[in-house]
Amino acid sequence: MNAKDEAFLKVEDLHAGYGDVRVLHGVGLSVGQGEICAILGPNGAGKTTLLRALCGMVRVRGAVRLDGVPLSGRSPDAVARLGVAHVPEGRGTFMPLTVEENLRVGAYTRRDRAAVRDDLERVYGYFPALRKRLRQQAGSLSGGEQQMLAIGRALMLRPRLLLLDEPSLGLAPMVTRELFGIVASINREERTTVVVVEQNAHLALDVAGQAHVLETGRIALSGSAADIRADEQVAQSYLGYRI
Ligand SMILES: Nc1ncnc2c1ncn2[C@@H]1O[C@H](COP(=O)(O)OP(=O)(O)O)[C@@H](O)[C@H]1O
Ligand SMILES: [Mg+2]
Repeated sequence: MNAKDEAFLKVEDLHAGYGDVRVLHGVGLSVGQGEICAILGPNGAGKTTLLRALCGMVRVRGAVRLDGVPLSGRSPDAVARLGVAHVPEGRGTFMPLTVEENLRVGAYTRRDRAAVRDDLERVYGYFPALRKRLRQQAGSLSGGEQQMLAIGRALMLRPRLLLLDEPSLGLAPMVTRELFGIVASINREERTTVVVVEQNAHLALDVAGQAHVLETGRIALSGSAADIRADEQVAQSYLGYRI
């Protein structure tokens, strides 16, 4: 099979952990180009570790390929240069820097200044709230605005793959809905492939095409978001709550 026949993101028999602590035990999944894929599952299942494994932050065994190019074994910086942007749990914005400084940090792998200017405009287009606050310190933003900034910063990389770790964490339901709406329009307009980890299964399944449920480091269930949402019994037994 040549690279063109393979899914855009292909993960095979992925193992990862921290020192002696093994967290992922042979995870496999595929994400098509331009799709939104949701990773659901209870606390401690290994969702964050999976995203870290995809972007080179933890050592892995197994294969991760993006558009046929191996990512496994590369440094986070090298993975970023291949077009993978990671918005970590807790957002990772630089609090003392202004909104615009944070966004410029996101473009650190790029040299083309005019394009960076265009991209700032693009980010402000998706997140008008950030334009209003461009000279404000990131630390003075609301939780929702900080999440927008974190995603905006990731967009400055012009990612081909966007990894989002629990974007809804700590946000009010209305803010979360707005945020997911923006992620969906970024996906539609830029054709950016998205992998989103969420405990808020309901919202994630609304925007995702495919979904995978992770349970103690293994994929317990995979399917279309619609099928997973429709099967209440499955949702209840695998996710531990109703969606
Ligand atoms: N830095 C770390 N060092 C050691 N163990 C960790 C570390 N981070 C997470 N873990 C462990 O890995 C497991 C999975 O964690 P995590 O990937 O954060 O799950 P989730 O994001 O699904 O809640 C948990 O048992 C957690 O305690
Ligand atoms: Mg997590």
